[in-house]
Amino acid sequence: MKHLLKLLDWTSEDINEVLNLADQLKYEQKHGIAKKYLENKTLGMIFQKASTRTRVSFEVGMFQLGGKALFLSGNDMQIGRGEPVEDTARVLSRYLDGIMIRTFEQKEVEALAEYGSIPIINGLTDFCHPCQVLADLMTVRERKGRLDGLKMSFIGDGNNMMNSLIVGALKSGMSISVACPENYEPDSTVLDFAKEYGDKFKMFRNPKDAVVDSDVVITDVWASMGQEEEAQQRKEAFEGYQINDELMSLAKSDALVLHCLPAHRGEEITAEVFESHADEIFEEAENRLHAQKAVMVYLMR
Ligand code: CP
Ligand code: NVA
Repeated sequence: MKHLLKLLDWTSEDINEVLNLADQLKYEQKHGIAKKYLENKTLGMIFQKASTRTRVSFEVGMFQLGGKALFLSGNDMQIGRGEPVEDTARVLSRYLDGIMIRTFEQKEVEALAEYGSIPIINGLTDFCHPCQVLADLMTVRERKGRLDGLKMSFIGDGNNMMNSLIVGALKSGMSISVACPENYEPDSTVLDFAKEYGDKFKMFRNPKDAVVDSDVVITDVWASMGQEEEAQQRKEAFEGYQINDELMSLAKSDALVLHCLPAHRGEEITAEVFESHADEIFEEAENRLHAQKAVMVYLMR
């Protein structure tokens, strides 16, 4: 049984195959020749955190593929009252053909896969955000024509996005430099993984060192979902980690800027940089739909 629990579990070939499939599905959708690859299949979508893009793109994606998606709010399920994830997994496996889950702890997602008998898709945990990064890679490849040999940089928090981008970029033949303040580094398992790639991964304190000659510059919020109480402390810690025109002048002149959204203008990115790159940022958001349809077809067909 194949899942998408984290990109660390996927090979470069898995990633490449899904990106190819995503391009194909996008083409078919745009040209009115979409096929119902998941007719009569049902996806359960468990949300323990808020969502705009993930929820809507999975639901619409499943509809376009001929299947159905059920929105399951964690608060309204027994899991929110303490029913073990191990039991939830075994019950839902008897009704559904796949589960997408957005939650806090990665181990909950892993347990669903261990105890369930249907494909599990990680729709964001504190540890990673693989669906977003597949859409990001798709967007870069669409705009640059390739991934291999390109340089990506990520400025800001060593959070779910930074973790997944490091893994996704390296497995796709890109190099990636990150810059984060002390105590906000990426997860140690990701750093261990990146060590195998030598010089292709670099971690800096100074954002300028990371951004130099980048083909793609990426950032994310300073306080993720669940960290609302740390917002002020984080604002102070991340001072100087903003993507602005001065920083962008160090990247390649045709560099892309990506942001998974929601964005906080004036914090991790200026309104000027955001708006001048809105074209690719919103294409990135659109590509969530195509990339996730590809993930579902890959895992659930
Ligand atoms: N980027 C992303 O996952 O957006 P949502 O939180 O709106 O799903
Ligand atoms: N790092 C952010 C990503 C939101 C899509 C969060 O976890 O809230």
